[in-house]
Amino acid sequence: MRVLVIHGPNLNLLGERQPEVYGTATLAEIDAFIASLARELKVELDSVQFNGEGEIISAIHDARTRYDGIVINPGAFAHYSYAIADAIASVSIPVVEAHLSNIAAREPHRRISVTAAACAGSVSGFGRNSYALALRAVVNLAEK
Ligand code: DQA
Repeated sequence: MRVLVIHGPNLNLLGERQPEVYGTATLAEIDAFIASLARELKVELDSVQFNGEGEIISAIHDARTRYDGIVINPGAFAHYSYAIADAIASVSIPVVEAHLSNIAAREPHRRISVTAAACAGSVSGFGRNSYALALRAVVNLAEK
């Protein structure tokens, strides 16, 4: 079982970026946390981060034949990228969305995720545990 984690824009700055919202863990620390769960679940995990919309779309396309599932945090693209939503809808492997913060409780423009609508489901508001829950969910779906 192989799963790809895609981190979207500005998540490379985790640790220094708005720690009051996103916590103090760096992206490398979050990746190490997810990787340790992946080992427990006997899942091969790769993790990538892109600031560009096109790079995220290409990563989704490329993953469709190389991975059994995707966990994605599209960052702000979640709220308006119909192109990423279309890419998710275009692949048959399961995709689960994760957000560190609870987007439903934030500014109005963050309360909608157009990309989550194309995913099998989404997890939001649990910090790094959102990724862990999303990984468990995508593994469960891919096993079916
Ligand atoms: C985020 C929430 C988005 O609204 C924001 O633009 C991000 C991070 C999260 O993980 O909570 O970049 O996706």
